Amino acid sequence: MSNIFEELESEESIAPTIFKDKRPLDHRWLPDKLVHREDQIRQIAKYWVDVLGGVTPSNVTLYGKTGTGKTAASKFAREQLIDIARKKNVFVKVEYIRCTDYTTEYQVIAELCNRLGRDVPNRGWTKGEVVNAFREIFRPDVFGRKLHLIVILDEIDILLNKDGDGILYTLTRTGNVSVLCISNYLDFKNLIDSRVNSSLNDKEIVFPPYGANQLSDILSERAEVSFNENVLEDDVIPLCSAMAAKEEGDARYALDLLKNAGELAFDEDSDVVTIDHVRRAKDKIEHNKIIEIISTLPLQQQRVLEAILYLTKQKEEISSGKLYDAYTDISKKDAVTYRRIFDFIGELEMLGIISTNTISRGRAKGRTNIIKLQCDETLLETTLFTI
Ligand SMILES: Nc1ncnc2c1ncn2[C@@H]1O[C@H](COP(=O)(O)OP(=O)(O)OP(=O)(O)O)[C@@H](O)[C@H]1O
Ligand SMILES: [Mg+2]
Repeated sequence: MSNIFEELESEESIAPTIFKDKRPLDHRWLPDKLVHREDQIRQIAKYWVDVLGGVTPSNVTLYGKTGTGKTAASKFAREQLIDIARKKNVFVKVEYIRCTDYTTEYQVIAELCNRLGRDVPNRGWTKGEVVNAFREIFRPDVFGRKLHLIVILDEIDILLNKDGDGILYTLTRTGNVSVLCISNYLDFKNLIDSRVNSSLNDKEIVFPPYGANQLSDILSERAEVSFNENVLEDDVIPLCSAMAAKEEGDARYALDLLKNAGELAFDEDSDVVTIDHVRRAKDKIEHNKIIEIISTLPLQQQRVLEAILYLTKQKEEISSGKLYDAYTDISKKDAVTYRRIFDFIGELEMLGIISTNTISRGRAKGRTNIIKLQCDETLLETTLFTI
């Protein structure tokens, strides 16, 4: 009996399909070369090189908007340092922590202890006990050697907002430890107390948004390892790059466009990826983003959206008053106050799902906020009623 997988595999070996290897199009893929980020990587290395001579490196902060290569550059520098340290037999560790995974000082320190071979429970100890266990790691070992540690705190804004700057205080006040913080905000230091700020030393590296040509270079490098030859039509990479340059020079978005365009072509059994695939990939990404946003909204906000959807379908002009009535009908007993609804409206507008427009109804009646849905009705309906 023939096997369907075998058939498919042999078909692929005759006619080259779209993809050579899809893994390089994944967000977590670390390319072995980061074009247009040589300067930033060199700057990180200039600070970190001290550790090879046994000196604790300066603390560094990387800033830049989303998709500008901060995570990639820090991981790249990390691999390079680990490689040379192994060759030179230098006692250094570089630990990467994504602060969306470890959102409190306790969790970060406990995780670092565990990675460095010092067992600490995930909860139950006092913060002081965990910090003491952490500091003990830096005592000289039997050969009199002391470990050097560099901690990369990626997406640190989340941790600072939630748990304050205690983590930076602890790390910067532990000998032999230096930190590399990664933030999306240039004013990130406003969240930090001055006593911590002074030990961060102001070593800052900025990651500017990529321009269209730079994005083209990034995509071309990636396309070479992930797509088969002559599969991408000439305008595909320039179009993905131009679209992503508009989205604040976001390389992640550029790669997403290219990957999704390739997937569409693959699904349609097309031999080539065209600019039409790219355009449709853009719609698909936006579509998925809206689904993601709506399905992760808190329940009461989803109900507000449900009320907006209901009124839109009734072809009603939606004032805040009318919206509140429709919302209380849906929520019944656990409805929140009228004041809160105003906050929700603001948040939904920020997310781009609705828009508001203030109109004047003449002197007697004053001004009213008119709310309009900004996303596709059917999409909203299916998302709201299938989560
Ligand atoms: N110069 C580059 N060369 C090759 N690939 C790159 C380059 N810059 C970014 N990328 C790729 O683009 C994607 C986004 O980059 P990265 O995750 O480093 O962005 P980021 O600045 O950390 O964004 P965020 O602030 O959202 O975390 C990754 O898949 C990364 O590999
Ligand atoms: Mg990142």
